[in-house]
Formats: sequence, structure tokens, C-alpha cells
Amino acid sequence: MNLPEDFIHHMRELLGEEAGSFFQSYQEPKTYGLRINPLKDYNNSFAEDLPFTLSPVGWAREGFYAVAEEHPGRHPLHEAGAYYIQEPSAMAVVSLLDPKPGEIICDLCAAPGGKSTQIAGRLAGKGLLAANEIFSSRAKVLSQNIERFGIGNCIVCNEPPHRMAEHFPSFFQKILVDAPCSGEGMFRKDNTAIQEWSRNQVSVCAERQKSILEDADRMLSTGGVMVYSTCTFSPEEDENIIEWFLETHPDYLLEDWRTILPNHCGLEGGRKEFCTGSFASAEQIQKTLRLWPHKLKGEGHFAARLRKTGKLTDNLQIHTKKGRRKKTEDLDDYFEFIQNFLCTGQTDSSYTITDLLTPNANYQYFKEELYRIPEHMKSLRGIKLVRAGLHLGTRQKNRFKPAHALAKALSPKDVVQCHECDFETALRYLKGETIPCSADYRSWTLVSYQNISLGWGKAQNGILKNHYPKGLRIMN
Ligand SMILES: C[S@@+](CC[C@H](N)C(=O)[O-])C[C@H]1O[C@@H](n2cnc3c(N)ncnc32)[C@H](O)[C@@H]1O
Repeated sequence: MNLPEDFIHHMRELLGEEAGSFFQSYQEPKTYGLRINPLKDYNNSFAEDLPFTLSPVGWAREGFYAVAEEHPGRHPLHEAGAYYIQEPSAMAVVSLLDPKPGEIICDLCAAPGGKSTQIAGRLAGKGLLAANEIFSSRAKVLSQNIERFGIGNCIVCNEPPHRMAEHFPSFFQKILVDAPCSGEGMFRKDNTAIQEWSRNQVSVCAERQKSILEDADRMLSTGGVMVYSTCTFSPEEDENIIEWFLETHPDYLLEDWRTILPNHCGLEGGRKEFCTGSFASAEQIQKTLRLWPHKLKGEGHFAARLRKTGKLTDNLQIHTKKGRRKKTEDLDDYFEFIQNFLCTGQTDSSYTITDLLTPNANYQYFKEELYRIPEHMKSLRGIKLVRAGLHLGTRQKNRFKPAHALAKALSPKDVVQCHECDFETALRYLKGETIPCSADYRSWTLVSYQNISLGWGKAQNGILKNHYPKGLRIMN
């Protein structure tokens, strides 16, 4: 691996004697992991049941080291949304944010969705996640991952941070700023990160990070929590950003990672000797979190948890709205679909189905596409959206065509008809082929693999017509 000369020089200066073991870590294979989706782990047994060699990651309860050669990313369970492939040290960031069911959270730099999907898992279907990405192509990938995970309480936005700040002033209880950075922690797994790196790039990133944090501050309620993170080692983008933030925002306190994360397994505090600012912030900086590749099994990360002082705004009161149906018949086809194809009478229904049945929820059409806007959401007018919550389906000439996102949010026990596939049939379904089913089945049928929904099929005469979206179909 050809590390940039300037990077080697700078890290030697920073780390002194420790630099040897730091650079030695570049000779080791990159770490590889996956994070299970609690929204799909109905029996809490994925850790034992997934057909892969897994060992737990100490700092994230959903996280596991996995073996890249077993290709979990190419398994039907990946398409089903059972897990997300993620570098293990990145999993510490959401653990530090510590989302709780019911909270109103923004992930401001969210694509491709590693941390958003982890946040949504911890929200357990309750509360609201606004996942935002500035670049539209990346926002689409983010949206696909939100859909694959079966997340119903998330909107996906495609705005620069300052536009989000204008639209959502003092709105969120928690904000994650997983900032674009010089990516020094990516060197082992991504050669382009090496090629794009320069000392100047580090400075450019630091300025951008400050600007994003100013916008995040405007969006955070008093009493709220913000986590700032990067996957780089340069103090200019890590400790020094937090020093600058605390000095320019005296209404914030730095919270100690040790009060939230385990104090063993190689996690460390930020480094005093990297600080440039006042003595006071240098003393505090150990409350920030460092994951070093030579101290634990992970590529490296930095994170800090900041609390805005004051009382939390009660957004739950302000923004819980009744539905805004203009004409009741607008939803008749949808509710007819629900009555015909979902098990509406069950008492142990999933969170999704309970939400789907709420007549007063905030349903909204975007042209012919019906969405269920998550609870607590304020008006979405004027914001560029990729996903306005749970996509329920399309209104077509007195008929309702259910959306793929709806299938992904449902579990087999939520529906009247479910066709459970074996491994080979699941692959055929994911390729877009028709598959045989019970001759008793009529019309919309959920297709599942290992009890996790893959998508819709439409049954007729013992054959399921494939409704897996064309753009998602696997090639081989
Ligand atoms: C570190 S990545 C986010 C990774 C993501 N949180 C995850 O866990 O999958 C940073 C993101 O910030 C976006 N970004 C780039 N420039 C930006 C800017 N000026 N403002 C906000 N976001 C930006 C990038 O496109 C990228 O998706």
C-alpha cells in the first residue's frame, strides 16, 4: 500500500513512538463486519441463526465481525434486509448517539445509510428519522437502503445542510453529523481515498465541517444531543473541530463517551497533545472518542457527543398532526387493500401494521403515490424529498397497487397470504422470475425467505407474478 508521504510524515510527528504500531496495522487485512437489523430479528436469534461466521463487536450490540470470503453481501438475506455490511468501528458512532424509541432524530450526512439504518433499528419504529444527503445519486442509494431495511418512520431528504437548517429550526432532539472528511481511516479498504488525500484536502474538509456543524446547531433543540464523527485521524478534523465548536458555542457541553460505551475493548479518548486551543478544552478532549486501527479490530473513527444546554423542546406536542385528507374516498382503495390482504385483527401485530391501520395518520399523495408521513413530522413543503416516509402504494384507476416499501415493512404474520421460499426459489424471485405458489392464493402475496419479506408477488392459478422492482433485481 502506497501511503502519501505527507501523511506518513504527519502521523509520525503526531504519534511519535506509537507510529510504528500504527503503520504496522496497514499490513493487516482490513476488518469486515455486518450489523443485524433488529426490525427483522423477530425472535432475537439472528446472531445464532445467520449462516455466517460471526463474532460480536464490543461497542455495538447489533454489530458482528464477519468473514468477507463468505460473501454475506451476496446472500438473499442481505436483499431481505436482515443486515447491513458495515466496517465495525463505524458502528460506535450510533452507539454513542444512543437513540431511544420515540426520539426525533436527523442524520445530516447520511448516504449510503450505514448509520441511518442503525439509528432506525434503535428507534424500533417509534419516533422520526430525517436522513439527509446532499448529492442526489447518493440520496437514492440511501433511500434504497432505508427501504431494504423495512423502515417506516424515516423521510429521506436531498438538501445541503443550510437548507435543512432553514426548514427545521430547533426541531430535532438528536442530530448525527457524520461529516465528509479526508478519509484516512479508509486507506486500507479504498485506494481512491489514498489518491484523493492531501494536506490541503484536510484543511478544506475542516472548514466544511465547521460550516455543517453551524447548520446542525441551528436544527438542534435546546437540551438536544449532537454527535460529530469522522473516519479520519487528522486532529484538524477531529479534536480541533471540537475545540473550535466548544469555544464558539458556549451553550454546549461535551459528554464523556465512557458514560455510554464500554471502557474496555480498545476504545480511547481524544488526545490532549493534539489540541491547539485553550487549556480548558484540552482537559476536556479526552471525553471525545478515538478508535485506532492499532488498538482494536476496526479501520478507525473519531466521535464526540455534545449536548446543547437548556430544556428539550416538546416537539411531540407541537408537530403531532391529524391526517390531512381532503376527500375520504381518496383512501378507500388503500383501506380496501388493507382489509383484503393484511391481518388486521391480530393483537400481536407488528409496529408497522398497527401504524398502517391508524385512520388519522398523516397520509399524503404525491401525484398518485401514497405515503404515510411519519408521526411528529412538520410540513414537508419546500424540501427536496426522495422518500416522504413509508411509501404505501400507487393509486391506479380505482385500484391500489401496494409499494415495494410496504412489503419490506411487513412481516409474514402481518399478511393473509405469504409464500415462503427456499434458498433457490428466493434467488429466482430476486432475479425477477415467476415462481409457483399455492393454487388457493389470489392476488397480492408477500414473498419471504427465512420469514423475512422480500417483496410482492401477484398470485393467479398457482403462479406468482414477480413484482420485485426491476432496478433491484440481481443478475446472477
Ligand atoms: C462520511 S459520509 C456519510 C456516511 C454515512 N453516515 C453512513 O454511515 O453510511 C459523508 C457524507 O457527506 C456527504 N457530503 C459531502 N459534502 C457535503 C457537504 N458539503 N455537506 C453535507 N454533506 C456532504 C457525502 O456525500 C457523504 O455521503
